[in-house]
Amino acid sequence: MDPLIKIERIFKSFSGQMVLRGISLDICQGEVLAIIGPSGSGKSTLIRCLNGLEQVDQGQVTIDGTLVEDTSSVAGRVGMVFQQFNLFPHCTAIENIVQPCRVVKKMTCQEAEELAFSLLEKVKMTDQAAQYPHSLSGGQQQRLAIARSLSMSPDIMLFDEPTSSLDPELAYEVFDTIKALSKEHITIIMVTHQMNMVRDFATRVLFLDKGKVRFDDTFDALVVSDDVRIRQFLKKVYG
Ligand SMILES: Nc1ncnc2c1ncn2[C@@H]1O[C@H](COP(=O)(O)OP(=O)(O)OP(=O)(O)O)[C@@H](O)[C@H]1O
Ligand SMILES: [Mg+2]
Repeated sequence: MDPLIKIERIFKSFSGQMVLRGISLDICQGEVLAIIGPSGSGKSTLIRCLNGLEQVDQGQVTIDGTLVEDTSSVAGRVGMVFQQFNLFPHCTAIENIVQPCRVVKKMTCQEAEELAFSLLEKVKMTDQAAQYPHSLSGGQQQRLAIARSLSMSPDIMLFDEPTSSLDPELAYEVFDTIKALSKEHITIIMVTHQMNMVRDFATRVLFLDKGKVRFDDTFDALVVSDDVRIRQFLKKVYG
């Protein structure tokens, strides 16, 4: 099978500081890739290059053969959910989904509302449809952000530490939602430090270190790795 995402020797610097140093990766449809590594190793920058939020200095990223040059290159195909929920504060939960469906997908009111409701069902939020973001828990806000992203029917979802601002119980609800997506063959790339999540459903783990891929294999292989950097890192996150 041809890879869905092809990352070919990408380099990226910010004001002279090289953050990505020649990363190459093939990611196939349906993979659940977890990206881990120390702070500043380039995890967020790497996934931002996949949807054109950052432009690479050298090398290239292609999705299904389409070159990712900016966010419009892959609009609709790649959804992204951040640590901060980025919801519209003045819109209710359901309006947060209806609005982009109307504006971006040019759906009719009825189409948008039907889709929004089914997505709220998917993330178990129908009871909160009429609530404003400020009155939702962090976990609910994040699930709403996921539902909103799904309304664009992406085949790739990027998550950048989606649960790091949530307490463990709420994080678990969000993980459950993400886990359900993996069963729908959506390709998932997630930056996370939550090792239970990585263990439970990542099909592949990438360890980034100083802008390079230091490890690319399964979680089972990760935990028995004898690489000193990886052992140090695991000790730190596992405690
Ligand atoms: N827009 C930017 N302008 C300048 N420097 C940046 C920018 N984005 C990232 N950097 C720098 O690039 C390096 C890598 O950042 P990045 O956010 O990719 O790391 P990370 O692995 O996601 O770290 P963390 O675990 O802390 O989120 C950091 O030194 C950061 O300061
Ligand atoms: Mg980051």
